[in-house]
Amino acid sequence: MSDQLRDGSAGETGQFEICKARSLDQIEAVHELQGTIWGSAEVATPNTLLRVMAEAGGLVLLAKSAGEPIGFAYGFTGRTSSGLNYHRSHAAGVLSEFRNSGVGRALKLAQRQAVLAAGMDRIVWTFDPAQVGNAHFNLRRLGATARAFRADYYGQRVDALSHGLPTDRLIVEWFLGNSEEVELARLRRRANLASVDVPDGLPPHHGADPAELKRLQGELRDGLQLALSRGLQVIDFDAETRSYRLAELPASFPDPAEGTSASGA
Ligand SMILES: CC(C)(COP(=O)(O)OP(=O)(O)OC[C@H]1O[C@@H](n2cnc3c(N)ncnc32)[C@H](O)[C@@H]1OP(=O)(O)O)[C@@H](O)C(=O)NCCC(=O)NCCS
Repeated sequence: MSDQLRDGSAGETGQFEICKARSLDQIEAVHELQGTIWGSAEVATPNTLLRVMAEAGGLVLLAKSAGEPIGFAYGFTGRTSSGLNYHRSHAAGVLSEFRNSGVGRALKLAQRQAVLAAGMDRIVWTFDPAQVGNAHFNLRRLGATARAFRADYYGQRVDALSHGLPTDRLIVEWFLGNSEEVELARLRRRANLASVDVPDGLPPHHGADPAELKRLQGELRDGLQLALSRGLQVIDFDAETRSYRLAELPASFPDPAEGTSASGA
């Protein structure tokens, strides 16, 4: 397959293109973008590891506009305890001035295209459930699901997006197969789904009281953990009501990829 995966038009920001990053220059561009987007070089995956991922069964994608790097997504191959392979996406980001123009979605669709071509049918990643924009993007826009919650997954992080809070994460599974997509669309149309609201005051913002943020995060954590412990899974996010929508996935769905412990252990 060609290294050029996708191109598109990012509204006022102009044309963009997405390719597999392979050369050292491209790998270095992905490395630098991480530092810029998260405001800290400390959380960036080193370019040595990115290079190995690109060469050894992983996937490193770079989006460019007018020849300049504007976004990336990268990951490696994961394996469930029952031996199913999936793509474990670790990070994706778009420079703030290029956001909300379809670049992030195009990166995920390019990832999907490459993962299907490699014979896998699931992409897994994590996101902070307090980030309602990410929730909308992952669950509503892309159609992913979440069956597991992990409290303080990475421990303390010092990047600009974490606000010093515990790094709580939902583990997202994006099923690329037709039968799961049809089943999920059917479930999402149901009116009486269980829900967990994101408390007002989240996502965290600069200047907010840290103790209050921690309390609100705890409230969201308790709500999600309780719902998951009752055997429900997150299948959607409603940005208007700021609530996660949950239902029981059919037993025909493949085994969860990782971290099904609702206790977050
Ligand atoms: C998540 C991210 C990659 C999306 O990229 P993008 O180019 O803006 O994505 P698109 O333009 O294709 O789609 C944006 C959609 O997601 C929503 N969205 C995603 N993240 C959002 C955020 N932080 N705040 C508000 N909305 C967000 C937008 O509302 C928009 O929805 P709409 O099309 O229904 O209006 C980008 O916001 C980003 O880099 N965020 C910082 C890093 C990050 O959180 N990465 C993901 C976790 S690893």
